[in-house]
Amino acid sequence: MIHKIINTVSNQFRNRFKTKPLLVRSPGRVNLIGEHTDYNEGFVLPTAIDKSIIFAVSPNKDRLYRIYSIDMDEYREFIAGSLKKSSAHWANYLLGVIDQVNKMGFEVPGFDCVFGGDIPIGAGLSSSAAIEAGLAFCVNEMFQLHIDKLDLVKLSQRAENEFVGVKCGIMDQFTNIFGAPNKVMKLDCRSLEYEYFPFDFKDIYIVLYDTRVSHSLASSEYNIRRAQCEQGVAYLKNHNPRIQSLRDVTSGFLESLKDQMDPVIYKRCHYVVKENERLLAACDDLKNKELGSFGKKMVQTHEGLKSEYEVSCRELDFLVEHTLNEKAVFGSRMMGGGFGGCTINLIKEDDLDRVNQRVKNAYLSEFGKEPGIYTIKIEKGTHII
Ligand code: GLA
Repeated sequence: MIHKIINTVSNQFRNRFKTKPLLVRSPGRVNLIGEHTDYNEGFVLPTAIDKSIIFAVSPNKDRLYRIYSIDMDEYREFIAGSLKKSSAHWANYLLGVIDQVNKMGFEVPGFDCVFGGDIPIGAGLSSSAAIEAGLAFCVNEMFQLHIDKLDLVKLSQRAENEFVGVKCGIMDQFTNIFGAPNKVMKLDCRSLEYEYFPFDFKDIYIVLYDTRVSHSLASSEYNIRRAQCEQGVAYLKNHNPRIQSLRDVTSGFLESLKDQMDPVIYKRCHYVVKENERLLAACDDLKNKELGSFGKKMVQTHEGLKSEYEVSCRELDFLVEHTLNEKAVFGSRMMGGGFGGCTINLIKEDDLDRVNQRVKNAYLSEFGKEPGIYTIKIEKGTHII
């Protein structure tokens, strides 16, 4: 599959621009546990996957950014030095990156670009981060800017925060750049220190079930959750001035203030505090190769996201419930921002086809459409092909 995409992107580039491009692969991501913790300075456990976006790029001397999106089948040109938001939504992920590179003091001259891939859009696999960090990587390589990897991550996140206008955390862009084969990454979103853990359980697959819905609430509710967490921190700080974020809050301390807190704010904070604790314990499970115990924590995460953080939806809950009915399943939960997208599941190889079939049939008869089913492999972060 990926070879076909690489050929298509490369051929499209050569036909349009008549030169040989630099080819770069930029992956999507999954997150095993640690949801809605990144913007609370907590921990996440993501990894880059084998679904990706392929870029073909080459500098030009015309001070133009000439960009063709294969998946949108749209071509756009932009003049270097006068960046404005584009009416083509997809282009803003790219322009946001150029804007940030410019703001770092390197003026990006012209380049030609063709890109396309197989990360399903709107499924919560971070196709946007793949576009942002992928282009940041390409620009860095094409013009030999020597921006280090961590700055590529940060500028890509700022592109999304400032140019696209989504206040996402740092997990997606970080995973895109730092992902490593057969490993998941425990990332401390405060210090940005990270540690790789092997994830190569024989006979166990990471499978995603895609609801194929994306409720319109997703981005507005995401920003509301961020604000509610900030409200919680402001309150808790009055009782302990050392608290800078929910990362600094223990469940005991939170519990002691429960009765005085706004119940909704308490629930949001409780979920986040527990999720950080769960993630640390889940990393011990990985060290001890206790996948059963790890999977149970994924289920607790789902419960918390559903009842306390309230970012799940009927389709996600249905998929989790039906998947957990199956013996061959270690863990199942909604993944990412919520209100649609995918569930992430750990399933034994022997029974995979049967479980997939049953979940598919159940979803089809309930919602009148089939879920997407993606068995994924762990891949390395953005790299030159
Ligand atoms: C989205 C954001 C991430 C993260 C997750 C929730 O994917 O882009 O930064 O906050 O939601 O864990």
